[in-house]
Amino acid sequence: MNDDVVIEATGVEKSYGRVRVLTGVDLRVEKGTIFSLLGPNGAGKTTMVRILATLIKADAGSVLVAGHDVARNPVRVRRSISLTGQYAAVDELLTGEENLRMMGRLYHLGRKAAWRRTDELLEAFDLVKASRRPVKTYSGGMRRRLDLAVSLMTRPPVLFLDEPTTGLDPRSRQAMWDVVRDLTVTGTTILLTTQYLEEADRLADRIAVIDHGKVVAQGTPDELKRQVASEYVELVLDDGENYDRALRGLGAAAVHTDPQLRSVSVASDGSPGGFRRILEWVEGQGLAVTRVRVKSPSMDDVFLALTDNPDKSTRSDSVSRKVGI
Ligand SMILES: Nc1ncnc2c1ncn2[C@@H]1O[C@H](COP(=O)(O)OP(=O)(O)OP(=O)(O)O)[C@@H](O)[C@H]1O
Ligand SMILES: [Mg+2]
Repeated sequence: MNDDVVIEATGVEKSYGRVRVLTGVDLRVEKGTIFSLLGPNGAGKTTMVRILATLIKADAGSVLVAGHDVARNPVRVRRSISLTGQYAAVDELLTGEENLRMMGRLYHLGRKAAWRRTDELLEAFDLVKASRRPVKTYSGGMRRRLDLAVSLMTRPPVLFLDEPTTGLDPRSRQAMWDVVRDLTVTGTTILLTTQYLEEADRLADRIAVIDHGKVVAQGTPDELKRQVASEYVELVLDDGENYDRALRGLGAAAVHTDPQLRSVSVASDGSPGGFRRILEWVEGQGLAVTRVRVKSPSMDDVFLALTDNPDKSTRSDSVSRKVGI
């Protein structure tokens, strides 16, 4: 394994009984980067994280984490990682402060260092006021923040975060992003799963989309966006009549439509010529348009286009359709 690659999984397979959850997953994560696993519910993200973190064994394939094989040397791997699971795992009867200090001692931080790190984390996750209260009195979001703080007591070489910001309010989510970014500066490698696509977009250096047990796409956020869709031009029509005419005229070329806002979007290659052709078409049809906007695809478009979508008429399917007007 190349020194810069901290997580390397090849051909990972896992089944539960007859349910084939992972059917050959390959991943490579470089040191000091943030890698995000995306995928629909049940796609196998948590299963993959649990395999990487030595909590369960793969049926086939090989996994190296921080230079150690998870099957042959799980103890070594465990010394290099920290994991925050999808569900909170803190002691309800202890206070937030006690939970953190206890975890610090378990990690052999030494009393002074454990207390210092506890104070830092209580501050970072806005838990100072609640720090002396038993965790059983915390709200869901407070527990979640404490759980994250606990997993960050040490600065582990590799950190696994399974849906770290589920249930957090926007400010707490932002705090979490800051802490995570801060960790990569000191060389920590982070693998996170999330259902917040904006989070992956903002935070991740690279993203892998998992569906039906396989990686269906991998790349930087921008690469993935380019892969599923070009830019598109949104037209907002003056009234219902113009909206209907635009829809009829565009036919399958209308990618996103919203009758309430009277907006219709048309895929474009992002070039000035492409933009001009759309405007010329609008003029040629004599359509009354209130507003024209050029838009870029979002991570939502990526997710919807790349993962299985039973309703083929939705925008995920159509967004990649090229237009010939
Ligand atoms: N211990 C288990 N026994 C049986 N089936 C399991 C077990 N753990 C997971 N599964 C199944 O494996 C599949 C993948 O589950 P997993 O938790 O990895 O999905 P996920 O991508 O993390 O989903 P989510 O977004 O909902 O967290 C699901 O069909 C799930 O029911
Ligand atoms: Mg999960």
